Amino acid sequence: MTIAPAAPLEAREISRLQDEVRALAEQHDAVILAHNYQVPEVQDVAHYVGDSLGLAREAAATSASTIVFCGVHFMAETAAILSPEKTVLLPDLDAGCSLAASITADQLRAWKADYPGAVVVAYVNTTAAVKAETDYCCTSGNAQQIIESIPADREILFLPDMYLGLWLERVTGRKLRIWMGECHVHAGIRPADIEALTADPGTELLVHPECGCASQCMAFGNGRTQILSTEKMVTFARASEKQRFLVATETGILHRLYKEVPGKEFQAVSERAICRYMKMITLPKLRDALRDGKHVVTVDPEIAARARGAIDRMVAIG
Ligand code: 13P
Ligand code: SF4
Repeated sequence: MTIAPAAPLEAREISRLQDEVRALAEQHDAVILAHNYQVPEVQDVAHYVGDSLGLAREAAATSASTIVFCGVHFMAETAAILSPEKTVLLPDLDAGCSLAASITADQLRAWKADYPGAVVVAYVNTTAAVKAETDYCCTSGNAQQIIESIPADREILFLPDMYLGLWLERVTGRKLRIWMGECHVHAGIRPADIEALTADPGTELLVHPECGCASQCMAFGNGRTQILSTEKMVTFARASEKQRFLVATETGILHRLYKEVPGKEFQAVSERAICRYMKMITLPKLRDALRDGKHVVTVDPEIAARARGAIDRMVAIG
């Protein structure tokens, strides 16, 4: 399916829509949560912008009666499982995730049958039905701590991102059984994209572990390569003495980096690293979602009950 990008909005129209969104959010007792990959005008109107882990924690903690999720479908599902008494809205139901689509619950059940007794650790980028078959969920922000919390003698099935899995093997020194899924955006960032750009010793390289180059980048051993979740990229850049950063992840994070770490310079390793699903959420769709109470994301209560434990462990650890 080809998805045409939304036409850019003019500054005046952006500001008018943002005012409308703020007023509607107040009127409907709604909190707007936005992922770091959202378009700048959506990030700027959100009550909270963050990575998958931060957003899940906000969704669990909010006192608002409605959560509008500016992110992708599995994130809204996770919020609906964590806060079943709240209304969770996703401004565009087609905002999916190629990584989450890389494994179904049936495939996971068949994989588990081959390794009885193994502990299943699933990245949060999975459907609720897959989470229901899982012992622990994790995000890029706490995957290492979650693997380390599992007794060393237990076999682990890790899914669905192979690059995150390979990176986890390196940092934890544990052998994992890894599902061969990938995110089309991050898998496309290759070591060759980075090598040419890292010649300058004053530059720090920030790499998301979903990238196709993540575990190779660790081997650079140059002391200026950091493998981080998107939230940790912001914290790291803020605290670092370095002035210049190369960023290997979806380019939406650059807006937050420039906004929250002023005076420093950021460059995307790949300008092509754009998630078309994240970019499906636009200000007009956010306004419509708030105004019309759409699109409500719910999870079958039986699946939600089985997925809840794995998600609670994710929110609690790290
Ligand atoms: P996080 O840094 O939020 O874990 O981002 C990964 C991602 O691709 C979300 O879909
Ligand atoms: Fe999924 Fe990749 Fe988009 Fe994240 S960037 S939502 S993993 S397709």
